[in-house]
Amino acid sequence: MFPEKFLWGTATAACQIEGAYNEGGKGLSIQDVMPHGLKTPPTVGPTEDNLTLKGIDFYNRYPEDIALFAEMGMKVLRISIAWSRIFPRGDEEQPNEEGLAFYDRVFDEMEKHGIQPMVTLSHYETPLALAREYGGWRNRKLIGFFERFARTVFERYQGHVRYWLTFNEVNAILHNPFMAGGIEVPRAELSEQDLYQAIHHELVASAAVTKIAHEVDSENQVGCMIIACPRYPLTPDPKDVRKAQHETQIDLAFGDIHVFGEYPHTLKRYFRDNDVHLDVTDADREVLANTVDFVSFSYYNSACETTDPEKDVSGEGNIMGGVPNPTLKASEWGWQIDPEGLRIALNTFYDRWHKPLFIVENGLGAVDELVDGGPDGKTVIDDYRIAYMRDHLLAVEEAVADEIPVLGYTSWGGIDLVSMSSKQMSKRYGFIYVDRNDDGTGDLARYRKKSFNWYKEVIASNGASLSR
Ligand code: BG6
Repeated sequence: MFPEKFLWGTATAACQIEGAYNEGGKGLSIQDVMPHGLKTPPTVGPTEDNLTLKGIDFYNRYPEDIALFAEMGMKVLRISIAWSRIFPRGDEEQPNEEGLAFYDRVFDEMEKHGIQPMVTLSHYETPLALAREYGGWRNRKLIGFFERFARTVFERYQGHVRYWLTFNEVNAILHNPFMAGGIEVPRAELSEQDLYQAIHHELVASAAVTKIAHEVDSENQVGCMIIACPRYPLTPDPKDVRKAQHETQIDLAFGDIHVFGEYPHTLKRYFRDNDVHLDVTDADREVLANTVDFVSFSYYNSACETTDPEKDVSGEGNIMGGVPNPTLKASEWGWQIDPEGLRIALNTFYDRWHKPLFIVENGLGAVDELVDGGPDGKTVIDDYRIAYMRDHLLAVEEAVADEIPVLGYTSWGGIDLVSMSSKQMSKRYGFIYVDRNDDGTGDLARYRKKSFNWYKEVIASNGASLSR
């Protein structure tokens, strides 16, 4: 049984839905120069073939979209506030009123429908000027700019937003320094010193805004957000087991710092071995002591670890990749499907941190076929998505029975949106189909898929319908 006040909902990010990339005084963000996602280098400026620039036009269609989420009975909607809408370059003294007013309207609309917002402050959308003129998060000055941005939105939306997340998938910076840290240097060319100094700045910024959030409103609940990717040894060879443990320790170090307020032993040794000498001031140490109220995470796949160089071939998966698990099947994009991994992640995290947990992303990216039928004249019979989500939610229910406090579940991309890794529209996660194709064609009409009613029923029965 799910807890009585379980927060059912869905999750999105500004750069994947809003579009209107240069309207309302918005500045450019790093996403506006990443037309094809993670595997190709950024362009100089925005290019026509970048679907992010138009998104799914949530900027203009938010009332219709929020009404659809409300029809499903959602209790919470996770969005992000585009930093470059509020501070177009990121380093201004004064915010852009038009940008602030846009989110006033969005929050009013949610309130009208009884949906509570959960807001990510930084979802892979650092203002481009901060990346190109300041070197991204390698530069300590970004801490102050981020604090100003955060204080501005905490004060403006006080009483309207209770759940805040600081950095989306904060451990992703290890794998994608440009997307997660605004650092325009390929990962292979970046020294460990530079990378970890940038990470340190993000961690200090995260703790600093957690403090500000609590000062502005003691009701504010602030969470960190990490990628959950349980690491399994590929074989029972103790060397594989130790490798899986070590990789897990590195992944979870980011949660450790947010929860315990200090660097874990694992990173101390890693820094010694890799000649990393962080610039950590006494003031930084004090700031890091501002720990989070809860831990949130995305979960798409698990991965295996091996010490056998012949088998150490990375497969696909959310950001980190990893050696494929021979016992699991994969999605059309090669992301392995592992519902049990979600229960494992919930148990690992609660054993370690003893904090309430929030699953803020999970879902299946799949090719959908629009066919005749349904209340809108066209629909998608997405039984595969229903099966995926049912299996994952049943794993969550087991974790709840394991006595783990799970605050809620926001599926990823309840309305089709632009993929982060590939910038495709054809990688769809939604309960709501959006008529837009990879080449940018389509009239943006919205259609309820079969999963729309299925999720509505799950929410209405507080999960009881899952095992019927
Ligand atoms: C997470 C991100 O990494 O995975 C989302 O927080 C992203 O922004 C999601 O969309 C799914 O990844 P993709 O590449 O399928 O869009």
